[in-house]
Amino acid sequence: MTPPWLVVPAAGCGRRMGADRPKQYLTLEGRTVLAHTLMRLHAAFPEARLCLCLDGEDRHFDSAWVPFRDWRRVDGGVERVDSVINALEAIVAEGADEQAIVLVHDVARPCVAADDLARLFAVVNDDPVGGLLAAPVADTMKRDDGAGRVARTEARAGLWHALTPQGFRLGVLRRALARARADGVAVTDEASAVEALGLSPRLVPGRRDNLKITHPEDLALAGQILAAQVSGAIPTDDEECR
Ligand code: C5P
Repeated sequence: MTPPWLVVPAAGCGRRMGADRPKQYLTLEGRTVLAHTLMRLHAAFPEARLCLCLDGEDRHFDSAWVPFRDWRRVDGGVERVDSVINALEAIVAEGADEQAIVLVHDVARPCVAADDLARLFAVVNDDPVGGLLAAPVADTMKRDDGAGRVARTEARAGLWHALTPQGFRLGVLRRALARARADGVAVTDEASAVEALGLSPRLVPGRRDNLKITHPEDLALAGQILAAQVSGAIPTDDEECR
């Protein structure tokens, strides 16, 4: 299989963390979140080509954290989708084929495991639409009434958490994101833009510990997951991640 293109949006400021720096630069187990995430991706796809989306004003980034041989820095945009679109334009400028597989992974998910990465890539290589890592919802789901009370209980059967990476062919993904932006649709993941084209991405069951660091308490949780994975208490199938 031809190695994928990787897009890592890392241009957010992580306001919900309330930290003194963007969350990708907080330290976990002795390394930045960004360094962990790139190590995990590199261990699974050492020959991949990387587009890393960073804020133009970013003062924290250190290129020593990038283990890829072939990588480029791309300016982030106002929203996540704008950052990803900038990365796709950079990939096109490199002469990539419309059929090239692009995996988009949030920098804030440093616990992604090698077996999930390999499975997702294998599935999207064989799928006409593409797909995403996802986990079935376990909790009972409540809809609020906007005033702090339950309006109703939503049926959880058939509901999934959308994780990353999400993988699609370059041509489909560019069309989907361009259309979403032109229509003014807010997209928080690639799959929803592809769905808006009338296509149905594959749900690839992924591990529940592929946590997105968003709130302050997530950092300690991510640290515990990484430590458990490294100690072998939670297997990842990936020696290079240890
Ligand atoms: O804030 P949130 O966690 O939803 O952001 C998801 C991902 O998108 C993060 O990896 C963040 O750095 C990235 N992002 C970006 N450009 C933006 C906003 C967010 O690359 N303008």
